[in-house]
Amino acid sequence: MNPSLERLVLRQPDDWHVHLRDGAMLESVVESTARVFRRAIVMPNLQPPIMSIGGALDYKKRILEALPFGIEFTPLMTAFLSESLSPDVLEQGFEEGVFTAAKLYPFNATTNSDCGVSDLRSIDSLLETMERIDMPLLIHGEVIDSDVDVFDRESVFIDRHLIPLLSRYEGLRVVLEHITTEQAVEFVETSSFRLAATITPHHLHINRNAMFSGGLRSDFYCLPLAKREHHRLALRRAATSGKPCFFLGTDSAPHPRAAKESSCGCAGIFNAAYALESYAEVFEQEGKLSRLEAFASEYGPSFYGLPLNSNKITLTKKPQLVPEAFQLAKDSSVCDSLVPFHAGEILNWRFVSN
Ligand code: NCD
Ligand code: ZN
Repeated sequence: MNPSLERLVLRQPDDWHVHLRDGAMLESVVESTARVFRRAIVMPNLQPPIMSIGGALDYKKRILEALPFGIEFTPLMTAFLSESLSPDVLEQGFEEGVFTAAKLYPFNATTNSDCGVSDLRSIDSLLETMERIDMPLLIHGEVIDSDVDVFDRESVFIDRHLIPLLSRYEGLRVVLEHITTEQAVEFVETSSFRLAATITPHHLHINRNAMFSGGLRSDFYCLPLAKREHHRLALRRAATSGKPCFFLGTDSAPHPRAAKESSCGCAGIFNAAYALESYAEVFEQEGKLSRLEAFASEYGPSFYGLPLNSNKITLTKKPQLVPEAFQLAKDSSVCDSLVPFHAGEILNWRFVSN
Protein backbone atom coordinates (compact mmCIF):
# COMPACT_ATOMS: atom_id res chain seq x y z
CA MET A 1 0.00 0.00 0.00
CA ASN A 2 1.51 3.33 -1.05
CA PRO A 3 0.73 6.07 1.51
CA SER A 4 0.50 8.74 -1.17
CA LEU A 5 -2.31 6.92 -2.92
CA GLU A 6 -5.77 8.42 -3.03
CA ARG A 7 -7.29 4.99 -2.71
CA LEU A 8 -6.68 2.35 -0.06
CA VAL A 9 -7.69 -1.23 -0.53
CA LEU A 10 -7.76 -3.06 2.79
CA ARG A 11 -8.62 -6.47 4.05
CA GLN A 12 -12.12 -6.04 5.48
CA PRO A 13 -11.87 -4.92 9.12
CA ASP A 14 -13.71 -6.11 12.23
CA ASP A 15 -14.91 -4.06 15.18
CA TRP A 16 -13.71 -5.64 18.43
CA HIS A 17 -16.03 -3.60 20.68
CA VAL A 18 -19.44 -2.26 19.76
CA HIS A 19 -22.83 -1.59 21.38
CA LEU A 20 -25.60 -2.50 18.93
CA ARG A 21 -28.46 -2.10 21.45
CA ASP A 22 -31.84 -3.64 20.77
CA GLY A 23 -35.28 -2.83 19.32
CA ALA A 24 -35.64 0.42 17.41
CA MET A 25 -32.10 1.54 18.19
CA LEU A 26 -30.65 -1.73 16.86
CA GLU A 27 -32.67 -1.24 13.67
CA SER A 28 -31.24 2.25 13.32
CA VAL A 29 -27.58 1.52 13.93
CA VAL A 30 -26.73 -2.02 12.86
CA GLU A 31 -26.19 -1.14 9.21
CA SER A 32 -23.53 1.44 10.08
CA THR A 33 -21.39 -1.29 11.61
CA ALA A 34 -22.29 -4.16 9.31
CA ARG A 35 -21.70 -2.40 5.99
CA VAL A 36 -18.04 -1.80 6.91
CA PHE A 37 -17.04 -4.44 9.44
CA ARG A 38 -17.25 -8.16 8.68
CA ARG A 39 -17.51 -9.17 12.34
CA ALA A 40 -18.01 -7.35 15.60
CA ILE A 41 -17.69 -8.17 19.27
CA VAL A 42 -21.13 -7.20 20.52
CA MET A 43 -21.33 -5.85 24.04
CA PRO A 44 -23.81 -7.58 26.38
CA ASN A 45 -24.90 -4.57 28.47
CA LEU A 46 -28.56 -4.68 27.51
CA GLN A 47 -31.34 -4.28 30.10
CA PRO A 48 -31.28 -7.04 31.36
CA PRO A 49 -27.75 -8.02 30.32
CA ILE A 50 -26.88 -11.11 28.26
CA MET A 51 -26.11 -13.79 30.82
CA SER A 52 -27.40 -17.00 29.26
CA ILE A 53 -26.80 -19.05 26.14
CA GLY A 54 -30.43 -18.68 25.13
CA GLY A 55 -30.29 -14.92 25.70
CA ALA A 56 -27.20 -14.61 23.49
CA LEU A 57 -28.71 -16.74 20.72
CA ASP A 58 -31.95 -14.71 20.76
CA TYR A 59 -30.03 -11.44 20.68
CA LYS A 60 -27.85 -12.66 17.82
CA LYS A 61 -30.99 -13.59 15.90
CA ARG A 62 -32.46 -10.12 16.45
CA ILE A 63 -29.23 -8.57 15.18
CA LEU A 64 -29.22 -10.73 12.05
CA GLU A 65 -32.90 -9.98 11.42
CA ALA A 66 -32.22 -6.25 11.67
CA LEU A 67 -29.55 -6.41 8.95
CA PRO A 68 -30.40 -5.00 5.54
CA PHE A 69 -30.69 -7.66 2.84
CA GLY A 70 -27.42 -8.82 1.32
CA ILE A 71 -25.00 -7.70 4.03
CA GLU A 72 -22.68 -10.39 5.35
CA PHE A 73 -21.98 -9.72 8.98
CA THR A 74 -21.19 -11.98 11.93
CA PRO A 75 -22.02 -10.73 15.42
CA LEU A 76 -19.64 -12.28 17.95
CA MET A 77 -21.58 -12.55 21.17
CA THR A 78 -20.30 -11.91 24.67
CA ALA A 79 -21.48 -12.91 28.13
CA PHE A 80 -21.94 -10.35 30.89
CA LEU A 81 -19.95 -11.54 33.89
CA SER A 82 -21.72 -11.48 37.21
CA GLU A 83 -21.66 -13.34 40.48
CA SER A 84 -24.87 -15.07 39.44
CA LEU A 85 -23.46 -16.51 36.20
CA SER A 86 -22.47 -20.16 36.44
CA PRO A 87 -19.06 -21.31 35.16
CA ASP A 88 -20.79 -24.25 33.46
CA VAL A 89 -22.97 -21.95 31.38
CA LEU A 90 -19.96 -19.88 30.40
CA GLU A 91 -17.99 -22.98 29.42
CA GLN A 92 -20.86 -24.55 27.50
CA GLY A 93 -21.58 -21.26 25.69
CA PHE A 94 -17.95 -20.91 24.70
CA GLU A 95 -17.50 -24.52 23.63
CA GLU A 96 -20.66 -24.32 21.52
CA GLY A 97 -19.37 -21.16 19.83
CA VAL A 98 -22.20 -18.99 21.16
CA PHE A 99 -19.97 -16.79 23.33
CA THR A 100 -16.72 -15.54 21.82
CA ALA A 101 -15.66 -13.78 25.02
CA ALA A 102 -16.98 -12.52 28.35
CA LYS A 103 -17.13 -8.93 29.52
CA LEU A 104 -16.27 -7.69 32.97
CA TYR A 105 -18.01 -4.50 34.03
CA PRO A 106 -17.18 -3.26 37.50
CA PHE A 107 -20.46 -2.55 39.34
CA ASN A 108 -22.01 0.70 38.10
CA ALA A 109 -18.91 1.76 36.19
CA THR A 110 -20.85 2.67 33.06
CA THR A 111 -24.17 2.41 31.17
CA ASN A 112 -26.25 -0.62 32.23
CA SER A 113 -23.65 -2.07 34.58
CA ASP A 114 -25.76 -2.33 37.73
CA CYS A 115 -25.44 -6.12 37.44
CA GLY A 116 -21.66 -5.74 37.25
CA VAL A 117 -19.08 -7.12 39.63
CA SER A 118 -18.39 -5.44 43.00
CA ASP A 119 -15.66 -7.75 44.21
CA LEU A 120 -13.40 -9.41 41.65
CA ARG A 121 -12.67 -12.29 44.00
CA SER A 122 -16.35 -13.24 43.85
CA ILE A 123 -15.96 -14.32 40.21
CA ASP A 124 -12.80 -16.40 40.73
CA SER A 125 -14.55 -19.57 39.59
CA LEU A 126 -15.56 -17.86 36.32
CA LEU A 127 -12.05 -16.57 35.72
CA GLU A 128 -10.52 -19.95 36.50
CA THR A 129 -12.83 -21.52 33.95
CA MET A 130 -12.01 -18.89 31.34
CA GLU A 131 -8.29 -19.40 31.83
CA ARG A 132 -8.67 -23.17 31.51
CA ILE A 133 -10.77 -23.06 28.32
CA ASP A 134 -8.83 -20.06 26.88
CA MET A 135 -11.84 -17.78 26.65
CA PRO A 136 -10.91 -14.10 26.28
CA LEU A 137 -11.79 -11.75 29.13
CA LEU A 138 -12.76 -8.22 28.07
CA ILE A 139 -12.47 -5.59 30.76
CA HIS A 140 -14.02 -2.19 31.32
CA GLY A 141 -11.05 -1.02 33.34
CA GLU A 142 -12.29 1.67 35.71
CA VAL A 143 -12.81 1.89 39.46
CA ILE A 144 -15.80 3.78 40.79
CA ASP A 145 -14.56 4.55 44.31
CA SER A 146 -15.79 7.98 45.35
CA ASP A 147 -12.36 8.96 46.65
CA VAL A 148 -10.80 8.46 43.22
CA ASP A 149 -10.87 11.36 40.78
CA VAL A 150 -12.96 10.44 37.73
CA PHE A 151 -10.03 11.10 35.42
CA ASP A 152 -7.87 8.64 37.38
CA ARG A 153 -10.33 5.76 37.29
CA GLU A 154 -8.47 3.82 34.61
CA SER A 155 -4.96 4.14 35.98
CA VAL A 156 -6.14 3.24 39.49
CA PHE A 157 -7.95 0.20 38.09
CA ILE A 158 -4.72 -0.99 36.50
CA ASP A 159 -2.80 -0.72 39.75
CA ARG A 160 -5.44 -1.96 42.16
CA HIS A 161 -7.21 -4.61 40.11
CA LEU A 162 -5.67 -5.45 36.76
CA ILE A 163 -2.14 -6.23 37.91
CA PRO A 164 -3.31 -8.56 40.72
CA LEU A 165 -5.82 -10.21 38.38
CA LEU A 166 -3.25 -10.89 35.66
CA SER A 167 -0.84 -12.25 38.25
CA ARG A 168 -3.50 -14.63 39.59
CA TYR A 169 -4.48 -15.83 36.09
CA GLU A 170 -1.27 -15.80 34.10
CA GLY A 171 -2.72 -17.84 31.25
CA LEU A 172 -5.83 -15.70 30.77
CA ARG A 173 -6.23 -13.80 27.51
CA VAL A 174 -7.34 -10.28 28.42
CA VAL A 175 -8.41 -7.23 26.41
CA LEU A 176 -8.34 -3.94 28.28
CA GLU A 177 -11.11 -2.16 26.39
CA HIS A 178 -11.14 1.43 25.10
CA ILE A 179 -7.92 2.57 26.78
CA THR A 180 -7.60 6.29 27.41
CA THR A 181 -4.35 6.89 29.27
CA GLU A 182 -0.60 6.92 28.80
CA GLN A 183 -0.40 4.55 31.80
CA ALA A 184 -2.60 2.01 30.01
CA VAL A 185 -0.55 2.27 26.81
CA GLU A 186 2.69 1.69 28.67
CA PHE A 187 1.25 -1.09 30.77
CA VAL A 188 -0.11 -2.98 27.77
CA GLU A 189 2.92 -2.59 25.52
CA THR A 190 5.37 -3.72 28.19
CA SER A 191 3.21 -6.45 29.66
CA SER A 192 4.47 -10.00 29.69
CA PHE A 193 0.90 -11.25 30.11
CA ARG A 194 -1.47 -12.19 27.29
CA LEU A 195 -2.82 -8.67 27.26
CA ALA A 196 -4.09 -6.44 24.44
CA ALA A 197 -6.11 -3.21 24.25
CA THR A 198 -8.70 -1.71 21.96
CA ILE A 199 -8.57 1.97 21.02
CA THR A 200 -11.60 4.02 19.92
CA PRO A 201 -11.66 6.67 17.21
CA HIS A 202 -12.94 9.32 19.60
CA HIS A 203 -10.11 8.90 22.08
CA LEU A 204 -7.68 9.40 19.18
CA HIS A 205 -9.39 12.64 18.13
CA ILE A 206 -10.52 14.45 21.26
CA ASN A 207 -9.11 15.28 24.64
CA ARG A 208 -11.16 16.26 27.67
CA ASN A 209 -11.46 19.89 26.58
CA ALA A 210 -13.96 18.77 23.94
CA MET A 211 -16.56 18.12 26.65
CA PHE A 212 -16.44 21.76 27.76
CA SER A 213 -15.81 23.60 24.52
CA GLY A 214 -18.13 26.64 24.53
CA GLY A 215 -20.57 24.94 26.92
CA LEU A 216 -21.34 21.48 28.23
CA ARG A 217 -20.98 19.18 25.22
CA SER A 218 -22.74 15.93 25.94
CA ASP A 219 -21.86 14.57 22.49
CA PHE A 220 -18.31 14.08 23.73
CA TYR A 221 -19.26 12.48 27.03
CA CYS A 222 -18.30 8.81 27.08
CA LEU A 223 -16.74 6.37 29.49
CA PRO A 224 -13.91 6.11 30.06
CA LEU A 225 -13.74 9.90 29.80
CA ALA A 226 -11.38 11.46 27.30
CA LYS A 227 -8.27 12.59 29.20
CA ARG A 228 -5.57 15.27 28.85
CA GLU A 229 -3.82 15.93 25.54
CA HIS A 230 -0.67 13.96 26.40
CA HIS A 231 -2.84 10.87 26.88
CA ARG A 232 -4.46 11.36 23.48
CA LEU A 233 -1.02 11.64 21.90
CA ALA A 234 0.09 8.43 23.64
CA LEU A 235 -2.98 6.67 22.24
CA ARG A 236 -2.20 7.92 18.74
CA ARG A 237 1.36 6.60 19.06
CA ALA A 238 0.04 3.26 20.29
CA ALA A 239 -2.60 2.83 17.59
CA THR A 240 -0.17 3.67 14.81
CA SER A 241 2.81 1.86 16.36
CA GLY A 242 2.36 -1.37 14.44
CA LYS A 243 2.29 -3.26 17.75
CA PRO A 244 -0.14 -6.19 17.60
CA CYS A 245 -1.31 -5.58 21.18
CA PHE A 246 -3.28 -2.51 20.03
CA PHE A 247 -6.26 -2.97 17.72
CA LEU A 248 -9.52 -1.47 16.57
CA GLY A 249 -12.59 -1.35 18.81
CA THR A 250 -14.93 1.56 18.20
CA ASP A 251 -16.98 1.42 21.41
CA SER A 252 -19.73 2.97 19.31
CA ALA A 253 -22.39 3.49 21.99
CA PRO A 254 -25.55 5.17 20.66
CA HIS A 255 -28.00 7.02 22.88
CA PRO A 256 -30.92 9.11 21.59
CA ARG A 257 -30.16 12.81 21.65
CA ALA A 258 -32.72 13.47 24.40
CA ALA A 259 -31.01 10.94 26.66
CA LYS A 260 -27.62 12.55 26.04
CA GLU A 261 -28.90 16.07 26.62
CA SER A 262 -30.85 15.43 29.82
CA SER A 263 -29.79 16.78 33.23
CA CYS A 264 -28.17 13.38 33.87
CA GLY A 265 -26.97 12.59 30.37
CA CYS A 266 -25.89 9.14 29.21
CA ALA A 267 -22.29 8.25 28.47
CA GLY A 268 -21.53 7.01 24.98
CA ILE A 269 -20.53 8.27 21.55
CA PHE A 270 -22.11 6.96 18.36
CA ASN A 271 -19.18 6.71 15.97
CA ALA A 272 -20.05 3.63 13.89
CA ALA A 273 -21.27 5.56 10.85
CA TYR A 274 -17.82 7.02 10.07
CA ALA A 275 -15.53 4.95 12.28
CA LEU A 276 -13.18 3.65 9.61
CA GLU A 277 -12.88 7.07 7.99
CA SER A 278 -12.18 8.52 11.43
CA TYR A 279 -9.34 6.08 12.08
CA ALA A 280 -7.98 6.65 8.55
CA GLU A 281 -7.79 10.37 9.28
CA VAL A 282 -5.65 9.71 12.36
CA PHE A 283 -3.33 7.26 10.61
CA GLU A 284 -2.87 9.72 7.75
CA GLN A 285 -2.15 12.64 10.09
CA GLU A 286 0.46 10.48 11.83
CA GLY A 287 2.02 9.51 8.48
CA LYS A 288 1.21 5.86 9.20
CA LEU A 289 -1.52 4.97 6.71
CA SER A 290 0.42 1.86 5.79
CA ARG A 291 -0.28 0.52 9.30
CA LEU A 292 -4.05 1.02 9.22
CA GLU A 293 -4.79 -2.38 7.74
CA ALA A 294 -2.98 -4.33 10.45
CA PHE A 295 -4.63 -2.30 13.22
CA ALA A 296 -8.09 -2.59 11.69
CA SER A 297 -8.06 -6.05 10.16
CA GLU A 298 -5.22 -8.24 11.44
CA TYR A 299 -4.20 -7.76 15.07
CA GLY A 300 -7.72 -8.27 16.42
CA PRO A 301 -8.36 -11.65 14.78
CA SER A 302 -4.83 -12.78 15.64
CA PHE A 303 -5.38 -12.00 19.30
CA TYR A 304 -8.75 -13.77 19.34
CA GLY A 305 -7.36 -16.72 17.37
CA LEU A 306 -9.83 -16.20 14.53
CA PRO A 307 -9.14 -16.28 10.77
CA LEU A 308 -8.44 -13.05 8.93
CA ASN A 309 -11.16 -11.86 6.58
CA SER A 310 -10.32 -12.57 2.98
CA ASN A 311 -12.49 -9.99 1.22
CA LYS A 312 -11.37 -6.41 0.59
CA ILE A 313 -12.87 -2.99 1.10
CA THR A 314 -11.84 0.38 -0.32
CA LEU A 315 -11.34 3.82 1.16
CA THR A 316 -11.06 6.72 -1.29
CA LYS A 317 -9.77 10.15 -0.52
CA LYS A 318 -12.92 12.10 -1.26
CA PRO A 319 -13.94 14.59 1.42
CA GLN A 320 -17.39 14.13 2.90
CA LEU A 321 -19.52 16.16 5.27
CA VAL A 322 -20.75 14.26 8.31
CA PRO A 323 -24.44 15.03 8.97
CA GLU A 324 -25.42 16.89 12.14
CA ALA A 325 -27.81 14.09 13.13
CA PHE A 326 -29.60 10.97 11.93
CA GLN A 327 -33.29 10.39 12.45
CA LEU A 328 -33.90 7.30 14.56
CA ALA A 329 -36.21 4.56 13.35
CA LYS A 330 -39.51 5.16 15.11
CA ASP A 331 -40.54 2.77 17.78
CA SER A 332 -44.09 3.15 19.07
CA SER A 333 -43.75 6.58 20.65
CA VAL A 334 -40.23 7.90 20.50
CA CYS A 335 -39.10 10.06 17.62
CA ASP A 336 -35.61 11.23 18.28
CA SER A 337 -32.26 11.70 16.61
CA LEU A 338 -28.76 10.38 16.97
CA VAL A 339 -25.73 12.62 16.74
CA PRO A 340 -22.75 10.95 15.07
CA PHE A 341 -19.16 11.54 16.11
CA HIS A 342 -17.64 14.23 13.80
CA ALA A 343 -21.13 15.77 13.28
CA GLY A 344 -20.85 18.78 10.97
CA GLU A 345 -17.16 18.09 10.20
CA ILE A 346 -15.50 17.16 6.94
CA LEU A 347 -13.69 13.83 6.83
CA ASN A 348 -11.15 13.27 4.08
CA TRP A 349 -11.70 9.57 3.53
CA ARG A 350 -14.76 7.74 2.35
CA PHE A 351 -15.64 4.09 2.64
CA VAL A 352 -16.66 2.46 -0.64
CA SER A 353 -18.06 -1.03 -0.57
CA ASN A 354 -16.42 -3.33 -3.13
C1 NCD B 1 -21.21 2.49 26.82
C2 NCD B 1 -22.73 2.33 26.64
O1 NCD B 1 -23.40 3.36 26.48
O2 NCD B 1 -23.22 1.21 26.65
N1 NCD B 1 -20.91 3.86 27.09
C3 NCD B 1 -19.74 4.48 26.88
O3 NCD B 1 -19.60 5.65 27.26
N2 NCD B 1 -18.72 3.90 26.28
C4 NCD B 1 -20.73 1.55 27.88
C5 NCD B 1 -19.23 1.46 27.94
O4 NCD B 1 -18.59 0.86 27.08
O5 NCD B 1 -18.65 2.03 28.89
ZN1 ZN C 1 -18.32 -0.07 25.39
